[in-house]
Amino acid sequence: MTTIAVVEGDGIGQEVIPVARDVLALLHPEYECYPVEVGYGKWKKTGEACTADDISLLRDADAILFGAVTTPPAADYRSVVLQIRKELDLYANLRPVRGKGVDIMVVRENTEGLYSGIEWQEEDRASTLRVITRKGSERIARAACRIARERRNHLTIGNKANVIKSDVFFRDICIKTAEEEGVLYTTAFIDALTLDVLMHPDRYDVIVTTNIFGDILSDAAAYLVGGLGMLPSANIGDRHALFEPVHGSAPDIAGQGIANPVAAVRSAAMLLHHQGDARGAALIEEAIRLTAEAGIMTPDTGGKASTAEVGAAIISTLRRLTYGTCR
Ligand code: IPM
Ligand code: MN
Repeated sequence: MTTIAVVEGDGIGQEVIPVARDVLALLHPEYECYPVEVGYGKWKKTGEACTADDISLLRDADAILFGAVTTPPAADYRSVVLQIRKELDLYANLRPVRGKGVDIMVVRENTEGLYSGIEWQEEDRASTLRVITRKGSERIARAACRIARERRNHLTIGNKANVIKSDVFFRDICIKTAEEEGVLYTTAFIDALTLDVLMHPDRYDVIVTTNIFGDILSDAAAYLVGGLGMLPSANIGDRHALFEPVHGSAPDIAGQGIANPVAAVRSAAMLLHHQGDARGAALIEEAIRLTAEAGIMTPDTGGKASTAEVGAAIISTLRRLTYGTCR
């Protein structure tokens, strides 16, 4: 039996994840979904944002559907999602950017780099150690090549090797891996690359890069396809997988019923794809496309519909596509 841990989290996570869960339940009523509570809300109630028990509940699942968590402004608080990525060793963060004339896969290293967590503060200086390992670079390069081979067989290696030595290390490992895997590649400096992706998205297929560069690049690239409300992601390791919208908990719009559920629903589609149901994933994408085509969109993408209205439209379209009726 397939088990799915569902983490709504904080803010708009609690509004968009129920839509994504309903979509999963429609296509796979046999999935056993169970809730796991982590995040800022839990921290306020219990003093802990994510316990060892929560982590083991997440480990037990075949896949995790994750909303978003708010990071409170407390000195001793560790970002819950970073903790989960690390503990479950979800080293590949896949962020597809798809829309009219755009089909790019950002492959972000997800466990090291500037997110090493090795940081310290002195009187007049604060430091963070950027750690790039051979193992971490090889496995993300390998994952990116595997994806490139299923697409247009081209890899862009985003780096800042003109300035940073650890980027020379990362870039060279990616080059060697691409050569071994028979994937065509280009290297590009991340600053100029970010601009070029916005100006000429059609030139790109798969882009692999280090943790923070991938974080920034994926948000910037969201501009091409209607903003952060549209972008899903998959956090993949060798044993676990977590699917979440790229956006955060957005406390500024939480509770208003206007959050865009598309990123979360697309994350559910990525989950299905990972579970081997490519057809279900494609049906979800098609239902999203038809819903937008009918003008049923939330305000961030120029519409007037609520989260619930977009969700209901996606689900009824999906029913029609799946069963040929409007039940
Ligand atoms: C993301 C987010 C996270 C990150 C934050 C919330 C820790 O921005 O998933 O892109 O920096 O990775
Ligand atoms: Mn981010």
